[in-house]
Amino acid sequence: MRKPIIAGNWKMFKTRDEALYFILKVSTAMPDLEKVDTAVIASAPLLRDLVKRQGDNLRIGAQNLYFEDEGAFTGEISGALLKSYNVTYVVIGHSERRHIFHETDQEVNKKVHAALRHDLTPIVCVGELLEERESSKTEEVLRTQVLAAYEGLSEEQALKTVVAYEPVWAIGTGRTATSEVANEACGFVLRLLADKYSQRVADQIRIQYGGSVKPENVDELLACEHIDGALIGGASLDPDKFIKMAKAALKRV
Ligand code: PGA
Repeated sequence: MRKPIIAGNWKMFKTRDEALYFILKVSTAMPDLEKVDTAVIASAPLLRDLVKRQGDNLRIGAQNLYFEDEGAFTGEISGALLKSYNVTYVVIGHSERRHIFHETDQEVNKKVHAALRHDLTPIVCVGELLEERESSKTEEVLRTQVLAAYEGLSEEQALKTVVAYEPVWAIGTGRTATSEVANEACGFVLRLLADKYSQRVADQIRIQYGGSVKPENVDELLACEHIDGALIGGASLDPDKFIKMAKAALKRV
């Protein structure tokens, strides 16, 4: 059985004071790390304060990194720097980065390699646009994104990754994918990984669903066979809601 993983993606929300208030409330209320992995994925300047206060059962992640280890890349953040702050996760290829900042599949791949080089756990985001789903291109898009992201990764490296299936039309829209749709897409990602590596490897890689997850729908989504957790945006900003959703994962254990 794969350990559930619940991560809150704060995006570009929260000031330092708001982040400190949240972490104080949440870090002592998280389920046992042995049973559920939980993480807060925050803006870079908050990471140090959050890691210091993460407690025993919560871990902290970054929202992006640059694929080079150092150099003249003004405004970018290296994996080495994130690691030096004891950050655990890094989200890579989030749809907002792909669509607003034009991040390509090749860049996503280089970032996954960079994360693993620095012993950070990449949460690799994939997902189709509404028009792609409506023109039956979901599988084609997922195949392209997953195979590109995992290009050149050994089995051993792939096992250290987490995938987040986030249909773009469900992100921040309040329009959650039905559990059937989400489960089917996560199952398809699993098959892609099984074809690339082996069923044994695919069975150990966790796949989160993301897109308008909230306390009201988290149980149904987590009950699905191929959904091992959630990447939560809007609803993760509220400490009480985040605690509820993290605890919901205990039912999957
Ligand atoms: P949402 O965002 O929960 O606000 O839809 C999810 C995400 O972008 O990871």
